[in-house]
Amino acid sequence: MILGIESSCDDSSLALINSQNLKLEFYKKITQEEEHAKYGGVVPELAARLHTEALPKILKEIKPYFKDIKAIAVTNEPGLSVSLIGGVSIAKALSISLKIPLIAINHLIGHIYSLFLNSDAIFPLGVLLVSGGHTLVLDINSFGEIKILASTTDDSFGESFDKVAKMLDLGYPGGAKIERLAKNGEANFNFTVPLKFNPKIEYSFSGLKNQVRVKIEELKNNNLLNKQSKADICASFQKIACDHILDKLSKIYKEKKFKNFGVVGGASANLYLREKIENLCKQYNSNLLFAPLEFCSDNAAMIARVGVEKYKLKQFINHKDLQIIPNLNLKNARSF
Ligand code: KG4
Ligand code: ZN
Repeated sequence: MILGIESSCDDSSLALINSQNLKLEFYKKITQEEEHAKYGGVVPELAARLHTEALPKILKEIKPYFKDIKAIAVTNEPGLSVSLIGGVSIAKALSISLKIPLIAINHLIGHIYSLFLNSDAIFPLGVLLVSGGHTLVLDINSFGEIKILASTTDDSFGESFDKVAKMLDLGYPGGAKIERLAKNGEANFNFTVPLKFNPKIEYSFSGLKNQVRVKIEELKNNNLLNKQSKADICASFQKIACDHILDKLSKIYKEKKFKNFGVVGGASANLYLREKIENLCKQYNSNLLFAPLEFCSDNAAMIARVGVEKYKLKQFINHKDLQIIPNLNLKNARSF
């Protein structure tokens, strides 16, 4: 069995996967959303403290499995440094006391493997990764060979949902809340699609966020911000944010027709986005993959799943060499 540990942001999670048949033998996640919601976003100090409470609590539950664990796979990059430390410290302590090897896991590779929790991975694979921290289009040719085709120059897709939700006092995290409210609204505010006439293949969400801010202020000043106009703002913003994703993705598809295409990350749970990508993939006869909804957001199952791959390749790391790496550097992930 491979133990997966995830603590890169505000979710503490442990999972055990059988390395032979990929069966998920144990899975638990303690989310800190409620605690951070009071502050409108993740407070690193608080996240660190909550991880040190939650991780040992879950660890107790897997004690009966200790004798079956063959390796410990832990997220060590990218993420909030004070959060990553929580999982990495537990992994090191456990590795030393149980004499089990350690495996370092890149969180983003984890999201990619959320597509393959119960099956062998498929390559070549195009990936859209939309989370609270990242917006990336990736071209993965074979195991460990990753090319970044597009990324965001400012806010990420999920982050822009969180920020718009905050402007509308909907609470944190905002993605699912915006999506829910958008269902009752009309996309009748004419926000413009970012970088529409810019040939560069990159994303930017901060301009759209500002368009929304200006509109909300205008509505407030005219006493027109109410339940319906909030829903209309959500529908309009969601539409344009997804149009932006699709606009650049279609341009990428004109150059490269992916045989397989996966959408991962917390924001890949957005059904409006899923539908738009489904249409694009149909048009290009591309085999579309999504993670199960429960495993779109951060979880340890995807970390344990990459752990299985690295275990088979014997890609272990000494506990002295295992460091946290807060920033994104997919070069580090090339050997995933
Ligand atoms: O992957 P994830 O759990 O954490 C990171 O690695 O960042 O992603 C969390 C992000 C948050 O920004 C959240 O608002 C967004 O995913 N999200 C959504 C939806 N559900 C979660 N964004 C848009 N629509 C959703 N339904
Ligand atoms: Zn994530």
